[in-house]
Amino acid sequence: MSKKRIAVFASGNGSNFEAIVKACVEGVVNAEVVLCVTDRPGAYVTERAARAGVPMIEFRPKDYSSKAEFESMLLSHLREKKVELICLAGYMRIIGEVLLEAYAGRILNIHPSLLPAFKGADAVGQALAYGVKVFGVTVHYVDSSLDGGKIIAQAAIPYEGTDRDDLEAMIHAREHIIYPEAINKVLPLI
Ligand code: GRF
Repeated sequence: MSKKRIAVFASGNGSNFEAIVKACVEGVVNAEVVLCVTDRPGAYVTERAARAGVPMIEFRPKDYSSKAEFESMLLSHLREKKVELICLAGYMRIIGEVLLEAYAGRILNIHPSLLPAFKGADAVGQALAYGVKVFGVTVHYVDSSLDGGKIIAQAAIPYEGTDRDDLEAMIHAREHIIYPEAINKVLPLI
């Protein structure tokens, strides 16, 4: 089977971007990351992409009059690169109609909670404030709802401490394993 072509969208650090690239390079995932997209020019993910030799699109949403306008720009790049699957990895924006229609059933997201608990921003902070003892991560399909698409994979992380840095390190480590696993589940379906 030929390698599927993936674009990763990220707004910040990009550790999940790097984990996906590594899984592809090592053959754990039978795909290739052909594009990195960021809405925050200069975010650390751009350094990771440069190191990995992955082509990058950096854009500023405020340079466009609407989400439809910048998503149309992105769509033309995605088509040019023949992207078959979009993986959101810390992309801090809701996907709009243009991309949802063009890539229906082919956009994934990773969220640092056991959905449907703690949707939206700062899921880890929400869970800590709630006092949960089992945290987790979820990979799901993206649809027009907020963190509400069909779940592909989940992992639970029991934690009774209060150190947010420790907890986030555990969550990230688990994300880096589960995202490639979830991609492997989806690849035969697209
Ligand atoms: C991850 O915790 C992910 O679950 C959330 O944003 C964070 C991105 O981390 N959606 P990184 O940029 O991949 O390091």
